[in-house]
Amino acid sequence: MTSIVPAPSSLESAFPAAMLSAVGTKESWRKEVHRPATSTHKWWAKRLGTVFRGIITSAVTAEDADAMEAYMSRLDLTGVVVLDPFSGSGVTGVEVLKLGGRPVCFDINPVATLVQRQAMQPWNLRDLTAAYRAVENSCREDVDRLHRTEDGRTVLYYFWVATVACPHCSEPVRLFDSPVFSKNAYPKRVPKAQIVCPQCLAVKESRYDFDIETCANGHTVTPAGAARGQVANCPRGHSFKTMSALDEARPEYEMYAKMIANPDGSKVYEAITDWDRALYAECVDLLEDLPDSAVLPRGELARGNNTDQALKWNFRQWRDFFNARQLVSLSLIATAIRDLPGPPAEREALSALFSGTLEFNNLFTSFKGEGTGAVRHMFSHHILKPERTPLEAHPWGTSQSSGAFSTLYKSRLERAHEYKTKPADLVVDGVGISRVTGLSKPLSATIVDSWEAFVSTTGQTAYVGTKNSADTDLPDGSVDLIVTDPPYMDNVHYAELADFFHAWLQAIHPYAGYDQSTTTRRAGEVQNADPDEFGKAIEAVWTECARVLKPGGLLAFTFHQARISGWVQVVESLRRSGLVVTAVQPVKGEMTTSIVKAGSREPSNLDSVVVCRRVVDGATNPNGSLEEALATALRELSGLRGAGVDVGAGDVRSVVRGSLLAYLASTGAQLDDVVTANVDEVATQAIATLHNQYVSASPNLGPAAWQAGLLSLDPPMG
Ligand SMILES: C[S@@+](CC[C@H](N)C(=O)[O-])C[C@H]1O[C@@H](n2cnc3c(N)ncnc32)[C@H](O)[C@@H]1O
Ligand SMILES: [Zn+2]
Ligand SMILES: [Zn+2]
Repeated sequence: MTSIVPAPSSLESAFPAAMLSAVGTKESWRKEVHRPATSTHKWWAKRLGTVFRGIITSAVTAEDADAMEAYMSRLDLTGVVVLDPFSGSGVTGVEVLKLGGRPVCFDINPVATLVQRQAMQPWNLRDLTAAYRAVENSCREDVDRLHRTEDGRTVLYYFWVATVACPHCSEPVRLFDSPVFSKNAYPKRVPKAQIVCPQCLAVKESRYDFDIETCANGHTVTPAGAARGQVANCPRGHSFKTMSALDEARPEYEMYAKMIANPDGSKVYEAITDWDRALYAECVDLLEDLPDSAVLPRGELARGNNTDQALKWNFRQWRDFFNARQLVSLSLIATAIRDLPGPPAEREALSALFSGTLEFNNLFTSFKGEGTGAVRHMFSHHILKPERTPLEAHPWGTSQSSGAFSTLYKSRLERAHEYKTKPADLVVDGVGISRVTGLSKPLSATIVDSWEAFVSTTGQTAYVGTKNSADTDLPDGSVDLIVTDPPYMDNVHYAELADFFHAWLQAIHPYAGYDQSTTTRRAGEVQNADPDEFGKAIEAVWTECARVLKPGGLLAFTFHQARISGWVQVVESLRRSGLVVTAVQPVKGEMTTSIVKAGSREPSNLDSVVVCRRVVDGATNPNGSLEEALATALRELSGLRGAGVDVGAGDVRSVVRGSLLAYLASTGAQLDDVVTANVDEVATQAIATLHNQYVSASPNLGPAAWQAGLLSLDPPMG
């Protein structure tokens, strides 16, 4: 059977990149609102659903048909099989189901599988609510009791500071950067702030930019804290490397303030009392006394790019990431969820929600301030970086909380459910961008875990599996289209980070067959800082893709790579797998970033969609020469810029690199250092060319605007 993909497709020849960039930009501001089905849980590098809808609809649209119209229509992909071999949170799968097609979504990480299953399978809202109430009845009172003041008010947040003993005099040092522990997100507008006396931990209202204060106990408080970068100063004046004072153990933490919800809805900050300390001591005892059957995080941290920083601070087990009260409270919630009798999909949804809540409830979170979501979650850095002043939130929370189980239930699960039953899409119309329903089918898939079950199941079905995509059970020639987003060398260390969630999920068993090993790290994970190793690993997946693709089918993936070696590996691995690049299309990426070139940072706003076909099907690269490949890239970039899309120097460099290298690979040329240096030289010239066009077209902006960031500074419409 041949694929339904036409040759050529609009994706290769008439891709509506400018329109997709406009809707994609709008989506990127609030992904959780526009694509809530894939937002029930953290996953890294989530792509834009609008862009993926556009890739899929353009891939099945013939060159002369209007791809823009296809994106905005009720396209029907009944019976069309679309594979995503690196499926992450399930963005491709969701868009395929919305168009009536049949997705096959593989990811090597079981936490990603969990996120995808929530995006695609239906929940019964009555059962979901009942399951949530059952969890609440079983644990909320106990959790609330551990987060209250002596007079019975609710504590929303406890503030902690890491302490170490001075290596010179053993004096304890509280590692505050500053006595200001709470200020407004816009302090110039609202200068009011809270300060703590580093000597006695008295709490007092002051200003974010105070000069000198006296605490209630008569101590003088100045703006400098004991910690400055990696160095700390003890009260007796010794200066030392913080790390050198750790002494083989995780730092100790001391509670120094709390934020309380008053019955009238106002919030106040107060100092910690002996009563609070006794309550915490009770948590330490409760933790000791938890039954063996209670859910608690399992497993040790192994060395790695993201884990090394935590290991240096002597966080050795995942349970070290939580204090005793967090462990007890989270264990109460998790155990209640584990013990839910069913039904399975709703129990699974609460398991995923619980796991998502962990991101905001651990010792690596901090306080963002007033006038904004209070909790800065642990992955705001993409690395596991210990906090000197962690924030402990009430994990069940109240309506005033941020990142709590009860608030995320509403903002994540209820919102996802609503979207799944009535999906909306962003479209461009006469006035701008609007959100419309009715273009897409509701998400209500039966999830199966083998090809055999996939072909024998009728109705809306998704094949979702935790698998190495280099080795699948898909028959030869079984897939019409492959749409994906591979890892970019070692940009994100998925398994190292996902293990933080997996440490709890193992004991909850969110779905039948959930991986039971102690880590999600796998030998086949495509992820390596070494370009050759990365190339080999990704080649294995491309080879499998070429095998399972139907004749005439195509593979499209988004790519964003700062290093030219990443591009070289991608085009070479495709060539070795029998695939040829038929187009490289720039389009709005997940976020605005920058790429590094010879020490300077070049702003970047776009991804490249790389489109490939099989050599055995007779596909060739459409460019006849290097000049043509360059002209194609420049035409696409200028087209986007002309339509008001931000195009940065990094985008020009990346798209030119991709286009030229893909052309060269198709001629059989070796992509050695000399060739890549030449390609980069052409890219540098292309940046200058587009820059000159830009300056002459907008004389008022001039080079300063270019240096400040993007070629076009006008925000896209909407
Ligand atoms: C860039 S992410 C995909 C993100 C996804 N597009 C989204 O929007 O959420 C790449 C994914 O590939 C997965 N992965 C890496 N190696 C794999 C392999 N050999 N087989 C299957 N999945 C793999 C990672 O776990 C990661 O989730
Ligand atoms: Zn000292
Ligand atoms: Zn004091």
